[in-house]
Amino acid sequence: MKPKTKNNKILVIHGPNLHLLGSREPQIYGKFTLKDINAELQKEAKQNGLSLEVLQSNSEGDIVEKITGSKYDLLIINPAAYTHTSVAIRDAILAVSKPVIEVHLSNIYKREDFRKKSLINDIAIGVITGFGPLSYILALTAAAQFLKSAAKTSK
Ligand code: DQA
Repeated sequence: MKPKTKNNKILVIHGPNLHLLGSREPQIYGKFTLKDINAELQKEAKQNGLSLEVLQSNSEGDIVEKITGSKYDLLIINPAAYTHTSVAIRDAILAVSKPVIEVHLSNIYKREDFRKKSLINDIAIGVITGFGPLSYILALTAAAQFLKSAAKTSK
C-alpha cells in the first residue's frame, strides 16, 4: 500500500560528478542520466504526495548552504566523493537535525577501501547503496514511510 504523506517536502542532493551520470564510468554507475533519475523521483514523489526539491552540485560550500538554508522535512543525499571526506557536510546535517537518508548508486563496501568509510552513515536514518538508480527510489519510499510514522507519533 502506498503511504500518503501530504505536504512533506524532501530535499534531494546529488554531489560532485553526478551530473555526468550516463557517460561517467557506466560499468559502475550505469547508463541512466541524472535527468532520468530526477524524473523518476518526481513521479514517485507525486504518487506519495511528497514535494521534492533537487540540487546537484560539485561544490561542498553550495551543498552546505543548501542543507542549512532550505526548508524541508527530510534530506536524501548522495554526497558522492564528499561521503568519504566532508566534515563540513556532516556538520551541516548535524546543525539542522533533519532526518537524512544516505544513497549510493554503487555498493561502496565492495569497492576501494577509501570508499568504505562514510562520514555520514552514523548520522543517517539508513543507507541505501548498490542498487543503481533504484537506490534513490528505495530511499524515497523509505522517506515516505518514515514521515508517515513520524506524523502518526506526533498526533
Ligand atoms: C557514489 C560512490 C562514491 O564513492 C563516489 O565518489 C561517487 C558516487 C555512488 O553513488 O556510488 O561519486 O556516491
